[in-house]
Amino acid sequence: MDLNQEEISKFEEAGRIGRKALEFALTLIEPGATLAQVAEQTEKFIRDSGALPAFPLNLSIDNEAAHYTPFPGDKKTFRTGDLVKVDIGAQIDGYPSDNAATIEVGDTGRHSGLIDASREALNAALKLVRPMVPINEIGRAVASKIGEHGFKPVRNLGGHGIGKYDLHSAVFIPNYDDGNGKLLKPDCVIAIEPFASTGTGMIHSGPAGNIYILSGTRNVPGEPIFDHFGTLPFAERWLEGMVDSTGNYIKKMIRERKVSEFPVLKEHRGAMISQAEHTVIILGDRIRVLTQ
Ligand code: CO
Repeated sequence: MDLNQEEISKFEEAGRIGRKALEFALTLIEPGATLAQVAEQTEKFIRDSGALPAFPLNLSIDNEAAHYTPFPGDKKTFRTGDLVKVDIGAQIDGYPSDNAATIEVGDTGRHSGLIDASREALNAALKLVRPMVPINEIGRAVASKIGEHGFKPVRNLGGHGIGKYDLHSAVFIPNYDDGNGKLLKPDCVIAIEPFASTGTGMIHSGPAGNIYILSGTRNVPGEPIFDHFGTLPFAERWLEGMVDSTGNYIKKMIRERKVSEFPVLKEHRGAMISQAEHTVIILGDRIRVLTQ
């Protein structure tokens, strides 16, 4: 991927707004607050800052690793002791950022070791990021740091390349040494996202998480969701005022296979998961973390 100065600036701005939005979201999470309030206020913060959300705010709790966002009218509230992964993205003209942090509601300190594990694993990975580094070395560093804390890395989730209107482009950055010696290429944007688990370290697809995306080959100009979100994920909450009945519209689009819904990604019952994530730009041998 060759990046020109204008594209680089858009990635930088998306990263800067993503960082601020994550800080803002963390201040809103407290016992009794609804997930819907936090999502709506944080997404508004992103819009007010001059960007658009790159995907619906993910608020995934306890054994959920990712991909839950509130549905319209969702009454679910945060409770003391909930382990919340806040995963956020901002985009400028389709150039996205992606960053995440984990907090414990009410700060009881019960899960601080698990929270530290993914954050320190992210820092260890960031130290290794440079062009032509074998990608599995990054995974090895992530797994070893999480192991030091006595937890397991989630092996079937990982970091990913980021491109225009594309949150999961070619590169995959594993959270363990998967033996893939492919080299990290210069001139690209990637997200690194370690997940630490008290369970088995494998996640599976749970129930639907209220996050939708246009199906790959069905991009329909003139269709409201394509014109608004392109090929980035969206929430039903965002369709209000755009189409008549948001629920019926989504059902129809899914029936016609124009839209698909992401399942919540979760560990087994009783397991706890933490996550930390930053977006990084690699330009020649210059590395910059865009979301810190
Ligand atoms: Co990501």
